[in-house]
Amino acid sequence: MKPLIAGNWKMHMTRSAARELATALVRSIPDPLEAADVALYPPFTCLSDVLGAVSDSEISVGAQNMHPQDQGAFTGEISPSMLLDVGATRVLCGHSERRQLFGESDDFVNQKVLAALGHDILPTLCVGETLAEREAGQTAAVVERQVRAGLAGVGADKTGEVTVAYEPVWAIGTGLTATPAQAGAVHAQIRALLQDLWAAAGETVRILYGGSVKPANARELLGVPHVNGALVGGASLSAPSFAGIIAATS
Ligand code: PGA
Repeated sequence: MKPLIAGNWKMHMTRSAARELATALVRSIPDPLEAADVALYPPFTCLSDVLGAVSDSEISVGAQNMHPQDQGAFTGEISPSMLLDVGATRVLCGHSERRQLFGESDDFVNQKVLAALGHDILPTLCVGETLAEREAGQTAAVVERQVRAGLAGVGADKTGEVTVAYEPVWAIGTGLTATPAQAGAVHAQIRALLQDLWAAAGETVRILYGGSVKPANARELLGVPHVNGALVGGASLSAPSFAGIIAATS
């Protein structure tokens, strides 16, 4: 399975800085991109600029969030058809910052996943436990609940379009990383859940690891069974470091 290296820029970058970063990244990665697929998730305001900057490359571009409805009285929200209109082809659903800071429930995240698939936008369902949940021995239960709820109603015919990202909340932006053993245990659990949901089709879904991935630890994490790529925050904000993570796939 070809790994996917995805950069989540979060709430960073003006349009000109985004163009510069995307252009620098295109120059820093192999063409053609043989060993990995690469995706960028800039803020909504930079989507168009980033799409322009990567248009001659194989990099795909998505949004960090999306409302499940197509239109309506949802002040401040962006719909699936708006994403398609700007040219975005992917979307993150249920990033832990959305869940924790903006109160997104499993059910709301599921609505987003289903809406994305209904519009042929490729969703990445993000799951992961907090430090308190890990310390209370609840990691497996939390991850199972988030995976089952987030993917409810998704048919086995859609597995080619879905990605799951395991991001332990305690490892996001903290410099702490799950050990290969910790990541491996949860990735194996998620793989078993996907097989339970979709039988053989569940084996083909990419499961990304996220949480302080950087060039120095990427190769080790990407070598863990069922780690099929990385969702990268901080280290995706610099072309050399993101390119370094991409290089770790070859
Ligand atoms: P980080 O963020 O790489 O800065 O830890 C990962 C994420 O939140 O997707």
